[in-house]
Amino acid sequence: MARDMIRDILAREKPGGPVTVQGWARTVRAQKHVIFMQLNDGSCLADLQAVVAEDHPDFAALRVIGAGAALEVTGELAESAGKGQRFEIMADQITVHGDADPTAYPLQKKRVSFEVMREKLAHLRPRAKTFGAVFRVRNALSHAIHTFFQDRGFVWVHTPIITASDAEGAGEMFRVTTLDPVAPPRTQAGDVDFGKDFFARPTFLTVSGQLEAELYALALSNVYTFGPTFRAENSNTSRHLAEFWMVEPEVAFCDIHGNMDLAEAFLKHLFRTVLDDCAEDMAFFNQWIEKSTCKTLEHIVESPFERLTYTEAVDLLERSGEKFEYPVSWGKDLQSEHERYLCEKKIGRPVIVTDYPKDIKAFYMRLNDDAKTVRGMDVLVPRLGEIIGGSQREDRLDVLERRIDECGLDPSHYWWYFDTRRFGSVEHAGFGLGFERLVQFVTGMANIRDVIPFPRTPNNADY
Ligand code: 4AD
Ligand code: MG
Repeated sequence: MARDMIRDILAREKPGGPVTVQGWARTVRAQKHVIFMQLNDGSCLADLQAVVAEDHPDFAALRVIGAGAALEVTGELAESAGKGQRFEIMADQITVHGDADPTAYPLQKKRVSFEVMREKLAHLRPRAKTFGAVFRVRNALSHAIHTFFQDRGFVWVHTPIITASDAEGAGEMFRVTTLDPVAPPRTQAGDVDFGKDFFARPTFLTVSGQLEAELYALALSNVYTFGPTFRAENSNTSRHLAEFWMVEPEVAFCDIHGNMDLAEAFLKHLFRTVLDDCAEDMAFFNQWIEKSTCKTLEHIVESPFERLTYTEAVDLLERSGEKFEYPVSWGKDLQSEHERYLCEKKIGRPVIVTDYPKDIKAFYMRLNDDAKTVRGMDVLVPRLGEIIGGSQREDRLDVLERRIDECGLDPSHYWWYFDTRRFGSVEHAGFGLGFERLVQFVTGMANIRDVIPFPRTPNNADY
């Protein structure tokens, strides 16, 4: 018999008819005359209860099935008398595909902390309710990202993961090499000779697909990349990963204002989509994880984002009378406590901060006429702070070369990037949305490590 997914069964209007469910038992409760099995197949948050009556030929054997077992149950779909469930299956045929030892299965009824799930049970945690919900929402968000851009004619460009250039110029890259770490080849001067390495040059995992996306935007007009990026920064916070996914649109013939409009429309589309398409999972997050998440998302979808320059933001922060751990002054980067204050207390909505001092931003941002600030933009949201970072790009070759020099970067690594400013340069802009920060914000999960299947952070790549 064909398999019925639990989500589809629960969407039915009426009970009746035989169904076949394949899934894992969340719990098995053997009573004297009946066994109740809560089955989940991952298609939705809700379980479907299978009821095994005393006259079932395997009643005795089925009593000792453990939570976690993989089962296939065929039977009549009946109205359920149980609280909070409309239907149940009156089990007729039951196949135990793989039993699970109830004394050893770690996801028994008692609550296991997210920390233990992450550190010791990352291989089993997708079976836990919260994680099933997180990864369904994560999937819905990736789909919505593609839909948003594809509907607007953007071309998805697959930018490389291995690269020879530092897209952010911050020197936070993981090296990619096949050289022998114990006895690498050496130059006459005694340095490691990367000329003998696989790519005949030093190579790294990319920190961003932006520079390559720019090249494609300057030909295909509207493009985006969506892929893994890597940062070897030693940040042990609830918002940083060493490996994370980033969505980076890049648009030619576009300035920072068009870029802000795109970012705002994009986030609103994503929030609207999860509220509409993931209602069951979102209700779960709203009840158990973060009581304000749905209300916050609804509010954001309905209201315009505030737009402030960095100078105005610093002014607001200085005059706020708040006691911050890191004091604010013009020229210093905003910390997440400052970003959160602006969104949560001062403005009460997402805020886009623009025109940052050039010294705290990357080399590629367009220099303003004041020669002190650049056309960067960060989108800040409540609870999290920065969710998007972007800018209008420096499209003037001479200024770009000067900025590369000022930033102490090697211009020979960027010769191809300069060429786009030499041939048909035009104003263009783009941004990067940290995909896990997005999932974190939407679900209300406190730690970014709990919204990516296998988190990579300092001292942790166990799986
Ligand atoms: O602000 P960032 O560093 O900007 C860029 O990489 C640009 N090249 C993007 C562009 O203009 N195309 O990173 C963009 C976003 C941040 O706003 C944040 O959401 C996320 O990526 N991000 C991280 N997420 C998780 N862990 C980290 N270590 C992150 N670093 C940045
Ligand atoms: Mg940033």
